[in-house]
Amino acid sequence: MIINQLFANMWDLYSKINPQVVKVKKLFDERENKIVANDHIALRTFNHPRINRSVIARPFLEAGYTPVEDLKFEKKKLDATYYSHHNDDLTRVFISELKLEDFSPKLQKTINDLVDQIPNKAIEQYDFCNYGIPWTTITEQTYNELKAESEYAAWVATFGFIVNHFTISINDCDTFSNLEEVNSFLKEHGYRINDSGGEIKGSISQGLQQSSIMAEDVPVQFEPLDSLPVNIPGCYYEFALRHNDFDGFIAGSADKIFESTDNK
Ligand code: NI
Repeated sequence: MIINQLFANMWDLYSKINPQVVKVKKLFDERENKIVANDHIALRTFNHPRINRSVIARPFLEAGYTPVEDLKFEKKKLDATYYSHHNDDLTRVFISELKLEDFSPKLQKTINDLVDQIPNKAIEQYDFCNYGIPWTTITEQTYNELKAESEYAAWVATFGFIVNHFTISINDCDTFSNLEEVNSFLKEHGYRINDSGGEIKGSISQGLQQSSIMAEDVPVQFEPLDSLPVNIPGCYYEFALRHNDFDGFIAGSADKIFESTDNK
């Protein structure tokens, strides 16, 4: 499978679970009268040795991506690495992992038990990063218990391995001159901007400004499988405007962007 096919499959699964993102992409593509480029995609995992971020990064490394920088998110107990490719047509890839040892023994046990269920065969497959849920469905109670300690842990336990967000490159847009205009456009169309730490994260002098819309609730079927689906926040869409050829990420900004799935 070539890397472009993997990105296409990631988009398919992401948009199937979150119909909202298809509408957002259409809004931008129609306004720009072209297919707008993507700035980066983001993936989430745990630092468990079987599935940590180096495991998730495998297909990207095979395709010639290189790790550029490690970022730490102390408060959220996350580490991340982003990867880029010398071919500018290939989007940046941002992979974060939750540091399990920083959580309660109970959370660690819940996650370790889920990870233990994943067959080696699944992890070894080329597109494990887009596998979906590789363990038995969790209960709503487990979801709530995980969420009480970490929204991130609850999200990964629920959705498994799917892209967390795609990101519209505002640099590739011709009709927006700043991120304020982007946010107004989104609000005009009824979308809620993540305003944790302000609607725009980062600054021109930092080289990167980002905003995101809050993840909309999507119906999730928890265990038991004959129970009613529960609506919980799925994936979101991000918007990035880069300045002065800055190619990286700003930890303080990403820290707030993570909260786009805290839609409750
Ligand atoms: Ni992002």
